[in-house]
Amino acid sequence: MKVTVIGAGNVGATAAQKLAYDSLCKEVVLVDVVEGVPQGKALDMYQAMPVIGSDTRITGTNTYDATENSDIVIMTAGLPRKPGMTRDDLLHKNAEIVKSCIDQAYAKSPNAFYIIVSNPLDVMTYVALKTTGLPRHRVLGMAGVLDTARYRTFLAMELNVSVEDIQAFVLGGHGDTMVPLPRYTTVAGVPLPDLLPQERIDEIVKRTANGGLEIVNFLKTGSAFYAPSASAVEMAECIIRDKRRILPCAVALEGEFGLSDVVCGVPIVVGKNGMERIFEIKLTADEQDALNKSAGDVKSNMDKLTVFN
Ligand code: NAI
Ligand code: 2OP
Repeated sequence: MKVTVIGAGNVGATAAQKLAYDSLCKEVVLVDVVEGVPQGKALDMYQAMPVIGSDTRITGTNTYDATENSDIVIMTAGLPRKPGMTRDDLLHKNAEIVKSCIDQAYAKSPNAFYIIVSNPLDVMTYVALKTTGLPRHRVLGMAGVLDTARYRTFLAMELNVSVEDIQAFVLGGHGDTMVPLPRYTTVAGVPLPDLLPQERIDEIVKRTANGGLEIVNFLKTGSAFYAPSASAVEMAECIIRDKRRILPCAVALEGEFGLSDVVCGVPIVVGKNGMERIFEIKLTADEQDALNKSAGDVKSNMDKLTVFN
């Protein structure tokens, strides 16, 4: 297995490191536009391998030649939102970056699975789908795994239990209107509403929706990257090891959950074929309304794209 990680910044470099530390593949190629950075980080990581006990080979590059025949491409390149920049500015800038990087990666690795991380996530996953023309099971967006991990962590903190015993889903787009589902959240099999009062659940749901901002407010110069990179690598691991885990991922919907022509986070089975199938679950009218609203927000941003004009 060979994995290319585009973007040697916080998320990309940490994802490359985890892939190598966990010996998930034989080779990791780290790509970035900044000369020297992917080369330096890759060499540093490679030099950790004798200590870690992993034979993963890591190389860094500013071009795509060395990425040829990758099995998985993880796309993390992109700009963070800077002061004075609107969300729309970011949308257009990152759409150009994603289109250009994915175009070049796809020319070298037409048979790869693509895991998109760059923001705004759902729209960038659509850009990658459209750029490659690949079937939807090969292009997956990472956000739901992260949002769900945040929700599980907050619940474990609240209940003072292991994070492993919290099972949950967060659906919808990666934004303020994401849809955590308390009704489908269990703690060692016990439904969450039996364990916490509704107002406390509401507070935790709100904290989850603002989870990215909470980290930005602490860091000030960047956004979260440990949990995001671990989440992207979990998706890659499910493909590499054919785990068939059910993970919330951003995928193109074709009528599932009553939604079409939009990329949105829903639970899917992830295995050796990427998305093996969409795992449809029953939603209440309120949950469906929340999902429709979240998907509507993604759709209105998809409609603003000019990169394919
Ligand atoms: P960062 O700024 O640390 O790294 C971004 C890297 O992309 C930089 O090294 C930059 O040189 C590189 N880059 C820019 N243009 C490029 C190009 N054309 N080709 C190759 N490399 C290029 O940012 P960080 O923290 O790693 O975040 C990366 C992206 O992931 C951002 O868009 C961020 O918003 C997004 N993100 C998404 C999450 C999600 O849940 N989907 C979670 C966390 C971050
Ligand atoms: C996050 O949720 C920035 O989307 C990123 O942390």
